[in-house]
Amino acid sequence: MSVRKALLIGAGGFGRVHLNELVRLTDAGVLELAAVSDVRLTESAAALVAERGIRHYADYREMLSAEAGADFVVVSTPIPLHAPMSIDAMEAGYHVLLEKPPGALLQDVDRIAETAARTGRLCAVNFFAPSRKAQALIANAIAAGEIGRVQSFKAIALLQRTAAYFGRTPWAGKLTAAGSVVLDGAFHNPAAHLLYSMLKLAETAAGAVGRESQPVGVTAEMYHANPIESDDTTAMRIEMSDGMPLCYYVTLCAKETETQRIRIEGTEGAIEWDYADQVKICRYGLGKSYDCAEGGIVERRYRNLIRTIEGQDEGLDVSLASARRFTLVANGAFESAGEIRGIPSAFVRLSDAADEPGAYIQGIESGLKEAFAAGKLLSETGLPWAVQPVSFDLRGYSLFPQRFRLTEALSGRGGEE
Ligand SMILES: NC(=O)c1ccc[n+]([C@@H]2O[C@H](COP(=O)([O-])OP(=O)(O)OC[C@H]3O[C@@H](n4cnc5c(N)ncnc54)[C@H](O)[C@@H]3O)[C@@H](O)[C@H]2O)c1
Repeated sequence: MSVRKALLIGAGGFGRVHLNELVRLTDAGVLELAAVSDVRLTESAAALVAERGIRHYADYREMLSAEAGADFVVVSTPIPLHAPMSIDAMEAGYHVLLEKPPGALLQDVDRIAETAARTGRLCAVNFFAPSRKAQALIANAIAAGEIGRVQSFKAIALLQRTAAYFGRTPWAGKLTAAGSVVLDGAFHNPAAHLLYSMLKLAETAAGAVGRESQPVGVTAEMYHANPIESDDTTAMRIEMSDGMPLCYYVTLCAKETETQRIRIEGTEGAIEWDYADQVKICRYGLGKSYDCAEGGIVERRYRNLIRTIEGQDEGLDVSLASARRFTLVANGAFESAGEIRGIPSAFVRLSDAADEPGAYIQGIESGLKEAFAAGKLLSETGLPWAVQPVSFDLRGYSLFPQRFRLTEALSGRGGEE
């Protein structure tokens, strides 16, 4: 693998993780960070950049035209900037590693994909996904019939977020910000990796038995207990083209954060995967655990992009085509829910967090876990505040919104811009 030159757009917020990793990997001789662009470089980032002789540009377009010798651009900026920035980068000849989600809107992701196809550039997405080792283990177990015939996939994320989380950036928890659609919420941000990972595992599992499986429908309930526009608690059921049901549950209003996990249920057993890349395969109640961790995710994404540029890896760990499935389902979930419903105050109190507590929904842990165990939506379990949604057909769907009520948010009545 030769040393490839990288550029970074967005060096604050999560971009600081990229900046630190890119500097560390420059020192390790894996790549070379040539320049960064940020409209508001923090003092410490500015000091690091100056000390390391990394060029800084306030205008990313200026960087793209001045740094023509670089190979790829990491884009880690607010979601509405993903499409214009990655498109500009590919038009200028660079490959791209784009932060998740690839865009808020399916039509934006399709514009990025069209540019990648036309320019012949790669666009990788920084979704966390089960490691290659975990995917191979799960695919082999399914192909060998270790859990019998696969019947369902389920994912659950019980998370606690404070008020500070929603105050960290102007677009946090917003449907729109500064006139752009962001749809920032529980499954579009902190638990986005989990939804992507479940879709990825469903693809892997179908492939293992020689089938194709695409999302064709989604039914989603979306709620908020915090004073935000978007969702902090969501349940959805995704219907796949091969009939496989995928169930997904997330809340940011739990007492404590638990490890996010996915369960694949079969006629003779089950496979559990969690965020630490630990896999457990159970057959008739007897289980065996496997450590499938493969090291730092961000570093793996850079290495995979470089190796794919050089033709050494088979392909991108997270291609834009596979990330599009996430956006297809995510947009469809909003369409299905129609609106974000407030959870009545009688069921909500402040969490026990010492500093800037967020909302806690009473009984949310058992509510989500019961729904998870039964593969039901929250409205199907009889939770008093849950409202039955309408299913949304994803076949041929390519333009958000159709039935989701976004207009109020866009005109500024849905909350602060
Ligand atoms: N992979 C993960 O685990 C993970 C975790 C957190 C966030 N993210 C993603 O990272 C992305 C950024 O999120 P964030 O919370 O860091 O956002 P943020 O609002 O903090 O912005 C990130 C940086 O972009 C800069 N920026 C804004 N406009 C710019 C422009 N026109 N040109 C150059 N720089 C500009 C900001 O100054 C800031 O430093 C989002 O897509 C988010 O979903 C990923």
